[in-house]
Amino acid sequence: MNTPESFPAAAGRPQTGPQLGGRRLMSPFVQAALSGYSDRPMRKLAQRYGASYTLAEVMIDRFAQEARGTGRTAHHFDVRDDDHPVGGQLMGADPESFVPAARRLVASGFDVIDINFGCPVKSALGGCRGGYLLGRPETALEIVHRVRDTVPAAIPVTLKMRRGIDDSVESRDKFFQILDGAFAAGVAGITVHARTVEQKYRGPSRWEFLREVKQHVGDRTILGSGDLFTAEDCLAMLRFTGVDGVTIARGAIGNPWIFRQADALWRIGSVPCPPSIHEQRTAISLHRDLAEECHGPDRWLTGMRKFGFKYARLHPRFAEVRDAFGQVRTGLDWDALVERFYGDDGPGRFPQLDDVHPAESEDVAPL
Ligand SMILES: Cc1cc2nc3c(=O)[nH]c(=O)nc-3n(C[C@H](O)[C@H](O)[C@H](O)COP(=O)(O)O)c2cc1C
Repeated sequence: MNTPESFPAAAGRPQTGPQLGGRRLMSPFVQAALSGYSDRPMRKLAQRYGASYTLAEVMIDRFAQEARGTGRTAHHFDVRDDDHPVGGQLMGADPESFVPAARRLVASGFDVIDINFGCPVKSALGGCRGGYLLGRPETALEIVHRVRDTVPAAIPVTLKMRRGIDDSVESRDKFFQILDGAFAAGVAGITVHARTVEQKYRGPSRWEFLREVKQHVGDRTILGSGDLFTAEDCLAMLRFTGVDGVTIARGAIGNPWIFRQADALWRIGSVPCPPSIHEQRTAISLHRDLAEECHGPDRWLTGMRKFGFKYARLHPRFAEVRDAFGQVRTGLDWDALVERFYGDDGPGRFPQLDDVHPAESEDVAPL
């Protein structure tokens, strides 16, 4: 296990993040796209605690094109002045239908259009979308070209890929065919999750592969993904692989402080203490308010409960708080829980590895 001491501040190194088209990010620490999680409230929390760039949940091309953008679907297209830089992500099967979908995201105010060639869930693969396209380089590259040609030149187009469908030589060749073809078509950066589609979330993300990809592309921007649960993990990935930035996914659910911690480790070589109980209360309350504003008074609680389970990991009475979140049925219950467990201040704790490997499934909503 890496310790903070292994990461002295990088003397003389420019302390800025990766280049994404015409914009340089302030740091390498990015909030990953997370279906069912990285809605506007989660992104705001990530940004407040130091994420240099955030990505929205993936949208199916047809949804992005046809959704009315009012009522329940309004929040998917809600980008405000203080949200930037924020990326919108699309997934689909038909190159042509990416065109109106990408236009809609641009019109909504997203700064970057990201294309998903990684999603491993059954519905995506069955619909010839997401990770399926890693096995279809011609179609994948046609999509890239259509989107790049559609989106104004000032708006970067980026990709999210897994390292392949499986570990066959054929799959690897197709990965590099898409990677090289996409950069040649003008994409500004590629995020690589170094698991295969077949692997889903079993086994580790293969960071050696990320290192190889970064060496292969030279100056082009690569963001790494997979197994980033602590600030030390983030620095270790940057160091080991040479990628330009890292996208923090499961490790940021209910732990937006990971961005601040990674940033401190990167800039000054040490990680601040975990957030105190009152600092946690501030974040949880802000998250609740944003969720209520985003999803409405009748729906915010459903989504917030799963964040509650994750926030609980930072509380010294973790198991009790987690169980209490499980009992919450109403907004009043929620507020009473926060009052009961977060009313008195005290030191927090870092989430333990045992509680950070959730059995989440990468469900894609809405379909
Ligand atoms: C619940 C869940 C939803 C996800 N949704 C998306 C998504 O919408 N778009 C995307 O590109 N990746 C998505 N991912 C993949 C993550 O962005 C990330 O690549 C993956 O979780 C590996 O990082 P980790 O091991 O640090 O969690 C999702 C992952 C999970 C667990």
